[in-house]
Amino acid sequence: MQNKGTYQAPKGTEDLYGERAQAWELLQQVAARVFSRYGYRPLYTPIFEATELFTRAVGKATEVVNKEMYSFKDRKGRNLTLRPENTAGVVRAAIEQNLLGEGGSAKLYYAGPMFRYEKPQKGRQRQFYQLGAEALGVTLPEADAEMILMLWEYLCELTLPQQHLQLLVNSMGCPQCRPLYRKELAKYLRAHAEELCADCQERIKTNPLRTFDCKRPSCCKVLAGAPKIIDALCPDCAEHQKRVERLLNDAGLIYRIDPTLVRGLDYYTRTVFEVQVVDGMGAQNALGGGGRYDGLFEELGGKSTPSIGFALGFERVMLALEAANIRLPFEKGAQVFVAATEDALREEAFALVRELRDAGLPALCDLQGKSLKAQFKAADRSGAALVVIVGPDELDDGYVRVRDMQSKEERLIERSRAAARLSAELR
Ligand code: HAM
Repeated sequence: MQNKGTYQAPKGTEDLYGERAQAWELLQQVAARVFSRYGYRPLYTPIFEATELFTRAVGKATEVVNKEMYSFKDRKGRNLTLRPENTAGVVRAAIEQNLLGEGGSAKLYYAGPMFRYEKPQKGRQRQFYQLGAEALGVTLPEADAEMILMLWEYLCELTLPQQHLQLLVNSMGCPQCRPLYRKELAKYLRAHAEELCADCQERIKTNPLRTFDCKRPSCCKVLAGAPKIIDALCPDCAEHQKRVERLLNDAGLIYRIDPTLVRGLDYYTRTVFEVQVVDGMGAQNALGGGGRYDGLFEELGGKSTPSIGFALGFERVMLALEAANIRLPFEKGAQVFVAATEDALREEAFALVRELRDAGLPALCDLQGKSLKAQFKAADRSGAALVVIVGPDELDDGYVRVRDMQSKEERLIERSRAAARLSAELR
């Protein structure tokens, strides 16, 4: 049996290697390509921040802050937390570094690990990877539409079939209309309290909108008859929502207005959205989501800066790709393996590998002192398309032998022009 060693990765975390690690890189490369078309620039913020940043931004009454944060004190007693999400960190950085500059806006994206102490299951980890984008200082409904379209374009670029996905959109209102709706909803829930689970009964007091996230059938039944926020929007929020819908319709996007979509973080105002996988993902079917957060800058000590963003979870994107049977187009491994027939020619093989790489070809040679036969096996494992064999007789005549690993055909090419010829052939 394989020796697993003394230590294992902590529960809810994973080592990324092989194709999965390559997938992570590819998901980020595609993001850089798509998002830069929309004018986004990368931003890296710390993996831990002051605990209070998340309590203020995400909200005291949310599951994330209440139950899921990895919080600790550093050696000087400062309260810190491993980021459970990154919108708070982006806004903190934008204020601190004045990222909005004179134009008063910025488009930023990020990718990296987030941490939530949740019960691990398929598509739910304690350390997971998010890709996110934030458009800061943008007021128009066009910003909302652009954000949703960019998310959709990203998923299309990954070739995720659209029939596997559904896009849900809702509005959460604003500080004018939401408190009134909250009261109305709490009143309705109180009238049905006996039919609700203990958690939802508690939520009536702390965060009645969260009851929409409950999956218990008895609660769902009560909530089906509850007043909907989209019917309680103030005129400005209703007008904003209508224009977002018009813009999405004009762009030909297929989506559904879901009046029960409330999202789990407190900072949202107006437009919220989520992309869900239709089936094959179990309970964790949200690939990603986001929304407007027009009040967050002020909440964190900045000036009023209406903004919108989203984040996607890589683990869930991978599950969705698997469910749809899609293989990502990975870069090929080594294209050329240079084998030396004897030890005396290893330096010659090494020189040729360098030339091949200089010519832009992925190239490998043996670094373990293997026999020629074992070098061929290693070449095979590396996925190389060609093996260049450096042997004494050919070399004396100024040639090396090239073997096509698929057809097994061999031919001689001039040593001095080998790198240029092979790179022209293989590219
Ligand atoms: P969120 O909905 O909490 O939003 O997370 C976004 C995505 O992260 C989820 O849809 C899911 O794919 C992934 N995710 C969340 N928790 C886990 C977990 N435990 N395991 C695996 N994947 C997970 C946010 O985080 C907001 N910051 C999004 C946003 C950006 N809103 C505005 N800007």
